[in-house]
Amino acid sequence: MTTLQDKVDLRIPAGLDRKEAEVYRHLDPARLPKHIAIIMDGNGRWARRRHMPRVAGHRAGVAAVRSSVETAARIRIPALTLYAFSEENWKKRPAGEVSFLMRLLSRYLKAEVPTLNENNIRLEYIGRQHELPGDVQERMNWAREATARNTGMVLTLALNYSARSELVDAFRSMVKAASQNGGIDHLQIDEDVVSQHLYTRHLPDPDLVVRTSGEMRLSNFLLWQLAYAEIYVTSTLWPDFRGVHLLEGIAEYQKRERRYGGLNHSEGHPSPP
Ligand code: FPP
Repeated sequence: MTTLQDKVDLRIPAGLDRKEAEVYRHLDPARLPKHIAIIMDGNGRWARRRHMPRVAGHRAGVAAVRSSVETAARIRIPALTLYAFSEENWKKRPAGEVSFLMRLLSRYLKAEVPTLNENNIRLEYIGRQHELPGDVQERMNWAREATARNTGMVLTLALNYSARSELVDAFRSMVKAASQNGGIDHLQIDEDVVSQHLYTRHLPDPDLVVRTSGEMRLSNFLLWQLAYAEIYVTSTLWPDFRGVHLLEGIAEYQKRERRYGGLNHSEGHPSPP
C-alpha cells in the first residue's frame, strides 16, 4: 500500500541528493523557470584564497558546471544557458589563461557528451564561434552534432559571447534578409523580428538569471533577453556552486512576484503572462 510518505517522496525527482531534495520539497513544480541563465564568476578569487594559480579555479569550476547541469536536467528545466567566456575575456586575459580555458572546454566537451546523451541534453552555443581556434570549433561542432537528437534540456554555452555584438550581428542579419527580399524599403522591424535574428532564437527569454561571487552586474550578457528576468545574486564563488545552490535560486525566484511592468494582484490588475 502507498503511504503518505511515499506520495510525498514521489514528488522529488530521481537523482537529487538529500540537501537538494530538502530545497526542492518546498518548490512549486508548476512554476519552475523555463529558462535559467547563469553568469559563472569567482574562479580567480576561489583560487587566490587557496594560494593557487587562477587556472586552478577554472579547473575546479568544471565540477560546478557538471552539478548545475545535472540538477537542472533532473528537475526538468527546459533550458539552461551558461556564460562561459565573454568576448572581453579573450582581449583582457593573459594568453596562457585563455589557452588553458580553450583546452578545458575541449576536454569538457569530449568527456561530457556521453553524460549529456544519457540525460537527453542537447548542446547549443551562442557567441562568435567562428573567431575561436579551429580545433575548438571542430570539437564544439562534434559535440553539438552528437547531442542534436536529444529532446530534453537545451544546454547553451555562451562562448566568445557579447550581448552588444549579438545585437550588432542581429541588425546586420536583418538588413541582409531585407536586401534579399525586395530591398531595404521592405525592412520590417518589431520585437519578434529582432528576437528571431538573435543568437538565442532557439530559446525562450530567461525567467531567472543567477550570478555567483556577489557581483551585481550583467556584464554584457543577454541584454535584450533579460529584460524581464528575475536576478539572483549569490556570494558563493563559482567553483563552490552546486545543484543545491541552483535550487535555492529557484526558491528565491518563486518568492518574487513578476509584474512585467504591470500592477500587482492586490491592486486588482493581474499581470500579463
Ligand atoms: C569567471 O571567473 C569565469 C570564467 C571567465 C570562465 C568560466 C569557465 C569555467 C567555469 C570552466 C569551464 C567551463 C565550461 C563550460 C567547461 P573569473 O576568472 O572572472 O573569476 P574572478 O572574477 O574571481 O577573477
